[in-house]
Amino acid sequence: MGPIAKNLSGDDMKALAAYFSALPWPAYREPADAASITRFQALDVEKKCTSCHREGFVGYANTPRVANQKLDYLIKTLSDFHDNKRPNMPRMTALVRNFSADDIAAMAHYLAGL
Ligand code: HEC
Repeated sequence: MGPIAKNLSGDDMKALAAYFSALPWPAYREPADAASITRFQALDVEKKCTSCHREGFVGYANTPRVANQKLDYLIKTLSDFHDNKRPNMPRMTALVRNFSADDIAAMAHYLAGL
């Protein structure tokens, strides 16, 4: 991504953003199982998450939509926040840092199923 993005001008980026943001959101159909939903709710973090990502995790402005993203991607990126391999959002890392791998998997299943 870095080498490709490096050569884009500001206008290129705006054009790409306009193109991708106009695409319809795909229906991946990865519904969460009941155990993952229960486990995510027991973590009791949804209100903290949605204070940034908005109700239903639909995102706004430069805070991304995470509802209905691909399950494998969500597991990877939440694990990267957890392991500080994606350190650009310290408040996110602080929130997921103390969760187990099973907690992260439940969170990813819940979000993918929205
Ligand atoms: C302080 C605001 C804030 C809070 C609280 C927050 N997030 Fe985020 N989150 C962000 C921002 C901003 C990004 C984009 C970071 C970036 O630019 O890489 C992000 C990125 C993400 C991503 C990666 C999205 C992608 O497309 O790569 C996921 C998944 C996510 N957040 C889930 C959560 C969950 C689950 C919680 C609650 C445990 C949470 N966030 C709490 C602001 C927040």
